[in-house]
Amino acid sequence: MAAAVTQTPAPAPDVVSVQATRPGAAIAPTMFGVFFEDINFAADGGLYPERIKNRSFEFTEPLAGWTKRERGSSDGELTVRTDGPLNANNPHYLRIRVHAAGNGFGASNAGFRGIGIQAGAVYVVSAYVRRVGAGPQTVKMLVTGERGSVLAEASLGGFTNEWRRYEAVITPSATNPRAQFQIVVEQPGDVDFDMVSLVPRETWNNRPNGLRKDLVQWLADLKPGFLRFPGGCIVEGKRLELRYQWKKTVGDVTERTGIINRWADENERTAPDYYQSFGLGFYEYFQLAEDIGASPLPILNCGMACQFNSGEMAPVDQLDEYIQDALDLVEFANGPASSRWGGLRARMGHPQPFKLTMIGVGNEQWGTRYIDRFKPFAAALKAKYPDIQLISSAGPSPAGDRFDLLWRELRALKADIVDEHYYQPPAWFLANAARYDQYDRSGPKVFAGEFAAHTTGAGGEGKRNNWQAALAEAAFMTGLERNADVVRLASYAPLFAHVDAWQWAPDLIWFDNLRSFGTPSYYVQKLFGTNVGTRVLPVSINSATAAAQNGLYASAALDERTGDVIVKVVNTAATVRPVRVAFDGMTATGAGRMQVLLSADLQAENSLDQPTRVAPMESAVTLNGTELRLDLPPQSVTVVRVPRGR
Ligand code: AHR
Repeated sequence: MAAAVTQTPAPAPDVVSVQATRPGAAIAPTMFGVFFEDINFAADGGLYPERIKNRSFEFTEPLAGWTKRERGSSDGELTVRTDGPLNANNPHYLRIRVHAAGNGFGASNAGFRGIGIQAGAVYVVSAYVRRVGAGPQTVKMLVTGERGSVLAEASLGGFTNEWRRYEAVITPSATNPRAQFQIVVEQPGDVDFDMVSLVPRETWNNRPNGLRKDLVQWLADLKPGFLRFPGGCIVEGKRLELRYQWKKTVGDVTERTGIINRWADENERTAPDYYQSFGLGFYEYFQLAEDIGASPLPILNCGMACQFNSGEMAPVDQLDEYIQDALDLVEFANGPASSRWGGLRARMGHPQPFKLTMIGVGNEQWGTRYIDRFKPFAAALKAKYPDIQLISSAGPSPAGDRFDLLWRELRALKADIVDEHYYQPPAWFLANAARYDQYDRSGPKVFAGEFAAHTTGAGGEGKRNNWQAALAEAAFMTGLERNADVVRLASYAPLFAHVDAWQWAPDLIWFDNLRSFGTPSYYVQKLFGTNVGTRVLPVSINSATAAAQNGLYASAALDERTGDVIVKVVNTAATVRPVRVAFDGMTATGAGRMQVLLSADLQAENSLDQPTRVAPMESAVTLNGTELRLDLPPQSVTVVRVPRGR
């Protein structure tokens, strides 16, 4: 007799119902954007592609990054001087004094954990140079490999006794992420240098003083709705004196006064050589925002230094300078070329306005002392620029006394948009996917301004950019999208990190001196940012809220530009989930597209060597009438786009 075979019945499919013909709230074009902060060498050593560290000899240790280069019997001295500087904002410069030229005396620069150069690419080497008396008239600029082999060489010459800029182009013969740069003087005497520079000729959109192409490409590919800059705590500074002051970051780069980066000694991963040259300054941020199609969102200091540090505060009756900076920034961005600050923008190369519509007042401030400072800012800005939307702070945590106080006060003030930050474990993100379902629809709008799932990792491994974190973020983001009438902007934070020079993890995009990769979280942001839609569509799972039903999370949107219905479903379970997606009211049938991001391994990460271990795959899907049957893979994010029809 044959043995009886018991079969486990296939689980009944979950039903995701999308009300395709009942579009709800508009989704702000700013919905998913990017948060840039100069942390983890994101600016100097990262997006700003200058290869020379301490190019203007203004670090606290003025020769930081530079060492003596002695060959054969050469002999000389390197000194940093201040007499007869290039300009008053750039008071230090390097004097190379050659006693004996031998095989060349000079200075080497170590770059930002090395100098990245690509074989065949063109680089511009330049410096301001002044010959002293009858000192040397020419110098060599070399790029060398670790063992001293010359990979590229140029001569600068014709120096006079006045400062003048000289430049040449070089094309390295080999690729090296950790090359060195050398100034070599082959004649005795004194010669002065400032603003010594080595940059790739090709930058994003080939802007003058432009940005590293591969890194901007990652941002452009996200199709970000906004670019928040320059942070983060960097806005606040450890002390007010070290706050970010946008006016010191615009104009001629030789006249921008750098300061130490507040992340240089913030935690155990110290980087005493981490400075802000402000080569990437507010003009470049605005230009970047425009170039990647994002609304600019500058965050300004409101008279408060970082409350995790000194917490120094400008008295409330002495905020004029800070408020004036905010008013002048609107003029810089939007004012006519005939205005003082609009004129500077025009002279820098952008006569047209930058279309600034939002400003953040303070970063992650808290307490009534923040409210006391926010009020005069809001009064002055709204009086002069009523259409500018102001972003105010909800403090560093997503709940608790500080958070409640700020929300209470800001609601009473009828604030425009409140910036919430959450660096929380993955479980928090899963549990909070319905966070905004209950928010007051008539109160201030929300900017989910800094968020990232922070794992704790087995064996004290710490906060990883793994699939577990990214999956939880995706589940949470369906809640942001479903509540787009409340949540107007959202950004993962921080954005960039140098693999050899970071202070904070996790981060969205990692890079070394030549390569870069997107984390699993990056691909989640990309799926949401490139499939954002224009109107929220009501969605339910098994007739209940679309958050956390059997480990499923969903959101849906209509893209009025294409006529597509977009559905996002996140399966956080470790099993396949059969799902029936019902497009109620839809008439179109047939083909659509589907993107799936998944990993069976929650610990999976991407890396420079395995950049797409977790990356989306795209395929065609066919509707069965106006219904779609899907087997959602375990631990997956699925985005479906189908035409809605009439
Ligand atoms: O993103 C890193 C830091 O986190 C930001 O500078 C700050 O706003 C927050 O505490």
